[in-house]
Amino acid sequence: MGEISLRRLRQSQQIQELVRGRTPSPLQMIQPLFVVEGLNQREELPGMPQVYRDTESSALSQIERDLRVGVSKFLLFFVPKEKGSVDFRFDFGARQIEKIKKEFGSSVFLGSDVCLCSSTEHGHCGILNAQGDHVENEKTVSTLCQAAISYAQAGCDCIAPSDMMDGRIGAIRKNLDQKGHRRTLIMSYAVKFRSQFYGPFRVAADSAPKNENKLKDRSTYQLDPTRLDDALLCAERDAREGADILMVKPGLPYLDVLKTVSEQVKLPWAVYQVSGEYAAISLLSQAGLTNEQKAHEELWTAYVRAGASIIITYAARLAHQWIQ
Ligand code: PBG
Repeated sequence: MGEISLRRLRQSQQIQELVRGRTPSPLQMIQPLFVVEGLNQREELPGMPQVYRDTESSALSQIERDLRVGVSKFLLFFVPKEKGSVDFRFDFGARQIEKIKKEFGSSVFLGSDVCLCSSTEHGHCGILNAQGDHVENEKTVSTLCQAAISYAQAGCDCIAPSDMMDGRIGAIRKNLDQKGHRRTLIMSYAVKFRSQFYGPFRVAADSAPKNENKLKDRSTYQLDPTRLDDALLCAERDAREGADILMVKPGLPYLDVLKTVSEQVKLPWAVYQVSGEYAAISLLSQAGLTNEQKAHEELWTAYVRAGASIIITYAARLAHQWIQ
């Protein structure tokens, strides 16, 4: 017996290509977009070059440019002008969806994030109790259902609830079905951890919990990073309640979680490469310490290896240029 060589298969590009594992495809990526009510000029996000808070019209022209390079799947975040505490309107988002669908029809796949954090004056993802120390589950869920219905009504293809309340997937599914939106998908942010990697997003969506709140952070509704069992329970529950697609978020710190939940719960899994992950790569590459394209491809490969079908990434439009 000769000595085992594991380098024999690495010796040339052709052989490397022949034995390669699954690689990320831009066709399985979703591009997030922020649309800000009443904004006059689009603004680049802090720490996130080439990612913008769009105006109503710049969002449309961005989508037009994206379609030309092959990007057709979007996740929309709506940032309304008026903030409230109990009563919310979702007509701004609905109007954007209608406009986009009117202009681009079925050539775009539109997902919409459904959450209250951009709409509440305190920045939490739901409605607070009178004492201001608890996010009220049932009131929040029924408000989220209103958002889901108005977005589905406007032509949204996929509702993506990111609030982390109990029972929202079942409630949204039931409401959508009752209103005749049986074909609208639900992509659940089922396994969403509380994280330090959401920083740039919270600037974009104007959604950080305010300092003067009694409830300082999102730890009473988002997952604790130490609790893998909670991740599994959330995934199983949301699957049972009727989610079509499940998500792990953030990506990089939770690859082990993605691997475990995607093996256990047999729905398509999405992973969200969040704003902080994107910003970290941007900063490293600006400092000349990494290659932006190769760093993104390395992370995307890791997500796929860990079990992701879908990758939500701010660099989806770059992926279409980078990966043929
Ligand atoms: C809102 C929401 C957040 C993200 C998506 N939806 C932030 C948060 O929970 O505070 C983060 C996305 C990102 O960082 O790119 N519920």
